Amino acid sequence: MRKTGNTISRRGFATVLAAGLLATGLAACSNSDTGGDGGDGGDGKIVLGFSQVGAESGWRTANTNSIKEAAAAAGIELKFDDAQQKQENQIKAIRNYIQQKVDVIAFSPVVESGWDTVLKEAKDAGIPVILTDRAVDSADKSLYKTFLGSDFVKEGRLSGEWLVEQTKSATGPVNIVELQGTTGSAPANDRKKGFAEAIAANPNLKIIASQSGDFTRAGGKQVMEQFLKANPKIDVLFAHNDDMGLGALEAITAAGKVPGKDITIITVDAVKDGMQALADGKFNFIAECSPLLGPQLMDLAKKVHAGEQVPPRIETEETTFTQEQAKEALPNRKY
Ligand code: AHR
Repeated sequence: MRKTGNTISRRGFATVLAAGLLATGLAACSNSDTGGDGGDGGDGKIVLGFSQVGAESGWRTANTNSIKEAAAAAGIELKFDDAQQKQENQIKAIRNYIQQKVDVIAFSPVVESGWDTVLKEAKDAGIPVILTDRAVDSADKSLYKTFLGSDFVKEGRLSGEWLVEQTKSATGPVNIVELQGTTGSAPANDRKKGFAEAIAANPNLKIIASQSGDFTRAGGKQVMEQFLKANPKIDVLFAHNDDMGLGALEAITAAGKVPGKDITIITVDAVKDGMQALADGKFNFIAECSPLLGPQLMDLAKKVHAGEQVPPRIETEETTFTQEQAKEALPNRKY
């Protein structure tokens, strides 16, 4: 895989992705695909224990596929566990990986807090840990080798800055409702922060309601229904991911309003369904969050296993999309 500085080369991804698909096809998905018999399954392969957040969104499915495909392409034995959005399941999976003496542990932490004890256990066992996608708030940075993922604050800020530009001639209040991601998760905390900081530039922009929809379509629909009942005038929806925005579309249409026109909709992710809604004029703007972390993760796993130094933070390269840009990008969208 090619990297440009600390960012991702899309062509590099495509090559590794295609190689993985040709060589192995998609690995079957289950809550726990343990494969092999523990650390270094006897065939000299690096064994990577990975604890995934869950299967809450289109983004997550694409991320899981990227990791499984990249592991196969890199010749890494992957032990995969789906934590179903529960921190206790992730802690259990990490402890299992420690017991099995895997070579490297990676995980995408469902929430930011409460990881110090289990991370210390991994460190004491001499197993290097890589964070992917989401950060932890541990003060002791020696508990993990690196954090590979997006800048969520920036995604929120870019969303807010677009809205500030669109509403610069507004003379009265612009009422915003916010669908937050999973409570306590890094993307929910950071996107909220970045968005709030950016919209502070225009005092007309006001967040009148903000609640978690847990990053799911069902959550987005249900919370948007409540927002619509409680607030007669909603001008803008900021949803922390596409799936919640897609769920909210149903609630908005059922309330007799036209999404993308009566209510401006801003989301994060840019998965195919979200991009389709943007190209169709139902969403108005998306800040991209790339799930294709698999190839870089495998590269890092090999390096930390070999005792090589890796940068403590590796940021994913991302962009934003307007309706016109979505129409252009859709035919080549990978996820
Ligand atoms: O951590 C990344 C976030 O988690 C994605 O934006 C969201 O769709 C997912 O569930």
